[in-house]
Amino acid sequence: MTLMRSTVLAFGLLASSSLVAAGPCDIYASGGTPCVAAHSTTRALYNSFSSPLYQVRRASDSATINISPLSAGGVANAGAQDSFCAGTTCLITVIYDQSGRGNHLTQAPPGDFRGPEANGYDNLASAIGAPVTLNGQKAYGVFVSPGTGYRNNVASGTARGDAAQGMYSVFDGTHYNGGCCFDYGNAETNNRNNGNGRMEAIYYGDNRGWGTGAGSGPWIMADLENGLFSGINTGNNGGDPSITWRFVTAIVKGGSNLWAIRGANAASGSLSTYYSGARPRVTGYNPMQKEGAIILGIGGDNSISAQGTFYEGVMTSGYPSDATENAVQANIVAARYATTGLNSGPGLSVGSSVSLRATTACCANRYLAHTGNTVDTQVVTSSSSAALRQQASWTVRAGLGNSACYSFESRDRPGSYIRHYDFALQLNADDGTKQFREDATFCLQPGFNGQGNAVRSWGYPTRYFRHWANVTYTASNGGVHEYDSAGLFNDDASWVVGAGFA
Ligand code: AHR
Ligand code: AHR
Repeated sequence: MTLMRSTVLAFGLLASSSLVAAGPCDIYASGGTPCVAAHSTTRALYNSFSSPLYQVRRASDSATINISPLSAGGVANAGAQDSFCAGTTCLITVIYDQSGRGNHLTQAPPGDFRGPEANGYDNLASAIGAPVTLNGQKAYGVFVSPGTGYRNNVASGTARGDAAQGMYSVFDGTHYNGGCCFDYGNAETNNRNNGNGRMEAIYYGDNRGWGTGAGSGPWIMADLENGLFSGINTGNNGGDPSITWRFVTAIVKGGSNLWAIRGANAASGSLSTYYSGARPRVTGYNPMQKEGAIILGIGGDNSISAQGTFYEGVMTSGYPSDATENAVQANIVAARYATTGLNSGPGLSVGSSVSLRATTACCANRYLAHTGNTVDTQVVTSSSSAALRQQASWTVRAGLGNSACYSFESRDRPGSYIRHYDFALQLNADDGTKQFREDATFCLQPGFNGQGNAVRSWGYPTRYFRHWANVTYTASNGGVHEYDSAGLFNDDASWVVGAGFA
């Protein structure tokens, strides 16, 4: 026992002293459990990695650009993305595998569930939904809205059958929901639910359909197919805590009748083990029958209801030791993940009354207003009726779902806010739900046509306030709805924010 302890301690010291400059995958390799997939839009996960981290595509001309680290082992060159995407919108098209195995993640295809694209594929993530800083340098995570997903069905080197693997991810602990299933990890190769034990991925969120932990969530759980597991029991395991950190390190690892859930604040401190032991006591999970595909943001069968934010994550070959993972956690903490503003350009003053004027040639005398519960545009002047002037005036509030952005409260119906529902803009009373508050939260960026501002949905950052036939939507720049049409998008989605009429 004494001998074992000192061996572990010696390894821990070795890991933290001789690997000071090592990236997460260098640490896993020296622990004998190398990365077989390594994904991050924020930084290199090997000390020597300097190749592209991810690819973005802009809407204006469908051109793509690869974003690489600023230096080997360093933080992504977010400035290159910002220049490339100026005046248009960008989507993350590829998240490259840094392991050298070519296990890149791309737009997930339809499975048991179809994605929202016309061809059944899932949506791609906005390139700007999840800005952060690492050691003071700006980078972007992958902001997954419901409907968004990435996958690789032909991954090489990932665990198959009952073989052992490790996984960690860094997530935004405050961005989650109860939908199925915000996952990163090992899943079916055919996008379908092939039965118990066919997948083994990290899950993050407050889904209560299968497992739960202590409190009301969100929890780190293991998605093992037909079940999210928080420990040995199906259902509740009190050892799996609700997570409250902004940045979360989430770990799931699994071998032969042995698996574990571990977690930590990704910005400080060390990992705790929330479960370690035998496979769940239900048929089909021992032995496991992992298939080895890789998913991000979706369930194994392409369930697309979940949301969350992914910054970095890896899958390993072999069952990593706790000591190896502890050294990886120290590396993540040293990367110094921190929040940064969600708005770009000058902000709005909370409490002020504003108007938003359309800038498309057809409609430059029209303002964002409401008629009943419908948010539309109307011709308004200072001599319009008092009622209309109020209907076209909005009180700026701190974002109900994220105070780094804004909500727009009705002037004539205090307590009611602009929110999207089925992507149409509506005026509804705040019902206090997380869903309402997120639907009513919008972030500002410079207008696409050089005028005013674009108003981006916090929860669906590919979508912006847009007028279409004089009613309004959160529209994407090209997409399945008529109002997503790329023609005139830049004008329709740019608004001059001025003083309110009332
Ligand atoms: O195990 C939970 C979910 O169940 C899986 O992600 C999905 O494939 C199935 O719907
Ligand atoms: O507007 C899109 C979604 O539609 C909203 O998030 C939700 O409230 C509704 O189902």
